[in-house]
Amino acid sequence: MKFTITTPLYYVNDKPHLGSLYTTLACDTISRFHRLEGNEVIFITGVDEHGQKILRTAESKNLTPKEHCDIICTKYKELWHLWDISYDRFVRTTDNLHKPIVESFFKIVEASGDIYIGRQQGWYCVGCEEYKDVESNSEEPICPIHNRKLEWRDEENLFFRLSKYQSQIEQLISKEGFILPKSRKNEIENFVKKGLRDFSISRVDLPWGIEVPGYKQHTFYVWFDALIGYLSALNPSGENITLNQLKSHGWPASVHVIGKDILRFHAVYWPAMLISAGLPLPAQVFGHGFLTREGQKMGKSLGNVLDPNELYHKYGQDAVRWYLLKDFQFGHDGDFQEQRFVELINNDLSNTIGNLLNRTISMSIKWFNNQTPTINHEEIAYHPLNEQLSKIIDEYRTTMSTLQISRSAELILNIATLANIYLNEKEPWAKIKDKANANEVAKDIYCVLEATRIVGVMLNPLLPQLSHRILAQLNFVIDDTHWTQSLRWGLLRTKEQLSKPIPVMQKLELQNES
Ligand code: MSP
Repeated sequence: MKFTITTPLYYVNDKPHLGSLYTTLACDTISRFHRLEGNEVIFITGVDEHGQKILRTAESKNLTPKEHCDIICTKYKELWHLWDISYDRFVRTTDNLHKPIVESFFKIVEASGDIYIGRQQGWYCVGCEEYKDVESNSEEPICPIHNRKLEWRDEENLFFRLSKYQSQIEQLISKEGFILPKSRKNEIENFVKKGLRDFSISRVDLPWGIEVPGYKQHTFYVWFDALIGYLSALNPSGENITLNQLKSHGWPASVHVIGKDILRFHAVYWPAMLISAGLPLPAQVFGHGFLTREGQKMGKSLGNVLDPNELYHKYGQDAVRWYLLKDFQFGHDGDFQEQRFVELINNDLSNTIGNLLNRTISMSIKWFNNQTPTINHEEIAYHPLNEQLSKIIDEYRTTMSTLQISRSAELILNIATLANIYLNEKEPWAKIKDKANANEVAKDIYCVLEATRIVGVMLNPLLPQLSHRILAQLNFVIDDTHWTQSLRWGLLRTKEQLSKPIPVMQKLELQNES
């Protein structure tokens, strides 16, 4: 099965922040899961480089827009490398290969009769790159997101006939599973119910953008240009292809993962543009929540922005991935609390999972001649741990494929907890004192090690590094084309040489602000 997943194309007005990392980590996890399920994944990310916001930022730094974009784009790429983001495509909207796709898209939409010249008057937020609805009596309206004054605009623009697609969009958004999570669907339904208004897709006298063919002085509105980036991503070699051919290159997207603030663009404007261009629609749009820090919105003025680079060097990849993926229900807002973060990592990763591996390997080394115990596989086939695990694995595969990442993480932890409980109940350290119990102890230790191996495998899409560290100590390598094979009970080899265990996750300490 083909599986195309996208992050938003991030604005390059500033270096990446925790919000960009959050979406990208989630998409990385989902992509890794689908690859292990044997699907043909195209994971798209990239940057959105045109528009007034970027132009102004470059000017304020005395750089040309291109110079500025190159600097920030490199920061994104470096960051994704640091975090092991397994993207397949990285789109830049200033890439030469993007322009012809935007142009052909426009020409088809124009030929469908969906473009006309009109007058656009209204209050514009450069931060959002969007016209805002404001109460008519406010003289100096403010953007509620950026907390900055809106700018009055009155210009001749090209318009897209969004209103023509009212009933098709209504139908689309009412479809079960198109907008996820369900809680976000209402908001879009209410917006659409008010009646869709045509929107402008060009700007005049804004040189930092792609020129509209046939309309001198007009450049494409940054959102029109950026959304089409998802299509350019599917033609990485810049071949001369028709939009229709993109269908054999991975279009439509299986899911667009975005923040809740840009849901309207993805669930309403973009599908209408695609219908007009005669292209199939994405199967799903997932709007995740916003992250705050210690109860406060993050912002430069508050000086409380969490820098993903610093976080990485302070706490490492696994810890941050686990906290963001497990503790924040994907789809809901979340609050980054450092104290909670440290406690969670120490409990879940160092104690529940790390100690389980450590103590079980130590026992195996001590009692079974530095090896994994020898057992008869038939005797453990119907082991109670196996029965519990196979149900959890089934649920995990369902929750991962429905983007319930935090539930999936919880399920992994449940297995480690069950294995710990099992060990504590069986007390092999007491039983081993009597030689007659050696066989039973061998089975107990083997089964707990096996459960730990499965924890290591299931962690792979979420925490690839920790997964490798766990599996390396058990001398197991995931079959990354058929991972269901790796999830089968009883694959840990008996009489496998074990080395002295190394803690897979160091305990964290709360560190002072840097
Ligand atoms: N360039 C557009 C997207 C175009 S997609 C064709 C854009 N870029 S953005 O850089 O401003 O935002 C990218 C994503 O970051 C959005 O999905 C936004 O919701 C997300 N976040 C920005 N701040 C965030 C938090 N504090 N928390 C979580 N995500 C947040 O919009």
